Amino acid sequence: MSLLEIQSLSVTLPVADGERQVLFDVDLTLEEGETLALVGESGSGKSMTARSILRLLPPRARVDGSIVFDGRSVLDADPAELRELRRTQIGMIFQDARSSIDPVRTVGDFLTEGLLIGGMSRKDAQARALQSLDAVRISDARARMRAYPHELSGGMLQRVMIASVVQAGHRLILADEATSALDVTTQAEVVGILAELQKTHGLAMLFITHDLDLAASICHRTAVINRGRIVEVQDSDALYSAPTHEYTIQLLASRPNPAGRNTP
Ligand SMILES: Nc1ncnc2c1ncn2[C@@H]1O[C@H](COP(=O)(O)OP(=O)(O)OP(=O)(O)O)[C@@H](O)[C@H]1O
Ligand SMILES: [Mg+2]
Repeated sequence: MSLLEIQSLSVTLPVADGERQVLFDVDLTLEEGETLALVGESGSGKSMTARSILRLLPPRARVDGSIVFDGRSVLDADPAELRELRRTQIGMIFQDARSSIDPVRTVGDFLTEGLLIGGMSRKDAQARALQSLDAVRISDARARMRAYPHELSGGMLQRVMIASVVQAGHRLILADEATSALDVTTQAEVVGILAELQKTHGLAMLFITHDLDLAASICHRTAVINRGRIVEVQDSDALYSAPTHEYTIQLLASRPNPAGRNTP
């Protein structure tokens, strides 16, 4: 059994003049410890796919098909099960860390909150948070714990988000364009940290990006999505060197720098 099995997932959203189907029969699987890239153009349905896994869809979204995480149906989970799933099993990192962290609470509060809810003592929670800040290479972790989000750079805040997911012991990370808003150097650092933590903790990761080179550089397999449909899933290297679907070929050809990752 795979860690995550998505079968025939279809999502239809209400719009002003009726409704609009945004995902069509999406099938995806993710094994324990595996990284899967989900690549596609803007509006192709990448975020909707990730959000479906955590049931974070717009109100009145209609969802068909099945999403099974570790043998349990996500779509049938009750609110308590869903909270538990989000707190302990599946974490999500968004493009803009700043908008998903409460601006009036300290980094320490943000990091310890989930641990305290889980029944950990304040002292242990703080020790764990310090450790996880170290793990994402944030120096002077003690002082950072007292800082507010506006006092940290975007790259540092994204690392705090990663720390929060890793320390919770999540088994699956959904990284939705988690590094796209960062400058190139910071992006490389954050991607490096994600890849390292993924390996050391054996995390599974759904890595959403529109950057095929980035996908190939850190993900075992790559899935390509076009207009709400998965058109191809292959080992990243194979997809890169021998794409089979016309759309993937176009996508590879339309990269801003088609010489890609092999360019010095
Ligand atoms: N709240 C909403 N109501 C109706 N349609 C929506 C809503 N949110 C997104 N959509 C539509 O759903 C489709 C898929 O959107 P989604 O956000 O998953 O795309 P994406 O691949 O993540 O794009 P991007 O790379 O720009 O983040 C798009 O056509 C989008 O316009
Ligand atoms: Mg998106």
